[in-house]
Amino acid sequence: MVNSPVRVAVQRLLVRWFKEKASLPPGAKVLEVGCGRGAGAAMLLKEFAPATLHALDLDLTMIRQAKAYLPPGQNGIFLYVGDLLHLPYPNAALDAVFGFGVLHHVPDWRAGLAEITRVLKPGGRYFLEEFYPPLYQNFIARRIFLHPEENRFHRADLHQALEAAGFETQTIMEHSSVGILGVAVKEVAPRG
Ligand SMILES: C[S@@+](CC[C@H](N)C(=O)[O-])C[C@H]1O[C@@H](n2cnc3c(N)ncnc32)[C@H](O)[C@@H]1O
Repeated sequence: MVNSPVRVAVQRLLVRWFKEKASLPPGAKVLEVGCGRGAGAAMLLKEFAPATLHALDLDLTMIRQAKAYLPPGQNGIFLYVGDLLHLPYPNAALDAVFGFGVLHHVPDWRAGLAEITRVLKPGGRYFLEEFYPPLYQNFIARRIFLHPEENRFHRADLHQALEAAGFETQTIMEHSSVGILGVAVKEVAPRG
């Protein structure tokens, strides 16, 4: 499913929507978490032209596919095996993090969100496409896809967690039975 041409076409639309909604500063340092076979990373390079694009996935097979998928000689891109729960960056190091359908795969998704928040600069952006349990935990989807079963987030859980993490979220598209496409901006001054 993830590697299908349909997914690539959908992802192209998602990246264009993101670009319409938010720009990145010149010289932006960008990370894509859970990059899969690298189709999204190629689109991000083309559409946002960041100074550096790091793209990681937990799965070595995916990173091998991504290295083969991306044309050789792509400047500024670094693909590696990594875990979004342990991002190898100091605090406030990145201008943007992109996650296409990844956080709902993480058993401790709150810890994943905290890690994304940690590495973003104040004013940095988390571009997210995420899915809610009615879509992937229904009778049919359970037989096709593999997802964690416990501790899932629904619409209200995700919005509460984003707010608690200090994000202001602009929703591009959302349905409580499907998922969300949105841009969450990390607040500049901590509350208090
Ligand atoms: C549904 S796929 C999405 C792939 C790609 N982003 C796309 O949209 O086509 C989820 C991806 O997240 C990766 N993933 C799951 N847990 C992860 C984690 N903790 N850290 C990094 N990647 C993870 C999986 O290996 C998989 O490639």
